[in-house]
Amino acid sequence: MKINVLFSSQHLDELYFTGKTAIVIDVLRATTVIATALTNGAREVIPVGTVDFAMKVSSDAFRSQTLLCGERNTKKVEGFTLGNSPSEYKPEIVSGKSIILYTTNGSKSFVKAKFCENLFSACFNNLPAIVKYLVALKKDVEIICAGTNGVFNLEDSICAGKIVSEIQQLKKNLVFSDSALACITLYKFSGKSIANMLSKTEHGKLLIENGFEEDIEVCAKIGTTDVIPYFSAGVIKKLDSNN
Ligand code: MLT
Repeated sequence: MKINVLFSSQHLDELYFTGKTAIVIDVLRATTVIATALTNGAREVIPVGTVDFAMKVSSDAFRSQTLLCGERNTKKVEGFTLGNSPSEYKPEIVSGKSIILYTTNGSKSFVKAKFCENLFSACFNNLPAIVKYLVALKKDVEIICAGTNGVFNLEDSICAGKIVSEIQQLKKNLVFSDSALACITLYKFSGKSIANMLSKTEHGKLLIENGFEEDIEVCAKIGTTDVIPYFSAGVIKKLDSNN
């Protein structure tokens, strides 16, 4: 099993992902929102690359079953129902709904990787479940950090490092790329408190500045859900336990 980490996917052609198994990580906050929405009963999450496309998808005959959600510069997009704080995705709001999600980096990473054979969504909240599933799947894995505007960010890389380290504890004969090894090292030196690490990152500081401090605590929690969000044919759903 080979593991590679991409610090962003913006520079890659979408054909790079053809036939691959990959996970997308956007700890702050898109993949945490996806895990929360599906845990709380959302029917599916539809990640989109532009606000215009989000509007188009929601203006079809199924409008009453869809919620327009996401952020621009951390804040709710004008006219959208929800922003990108996991705490907004309560069962009474999202249950049975199709969430159309536009975010600056996270949703676009799914669109870019749409030709993967297997594509999952990971964050600290569902990390143990993702690790267990990947170990059982026995496929080479590309870990796609959503990053920030096409470049490295610390929070996604440290989450990737924790995933790789935990796979390493469960499986022999792994082959790591240099970026995967770098992420393991970063994780080992990241300190005991994930919340503290997140609050010191550039994006963490921006979230705090914009009044989203509570989101950091939520995004830092490990193993609060067993949900494995699986992308197929443009939508992300909970992986069926029979898969
Ligand atoms: C992103 O896609 O870049 C993030 O989810 C941004 C955010 O939630 O602030």
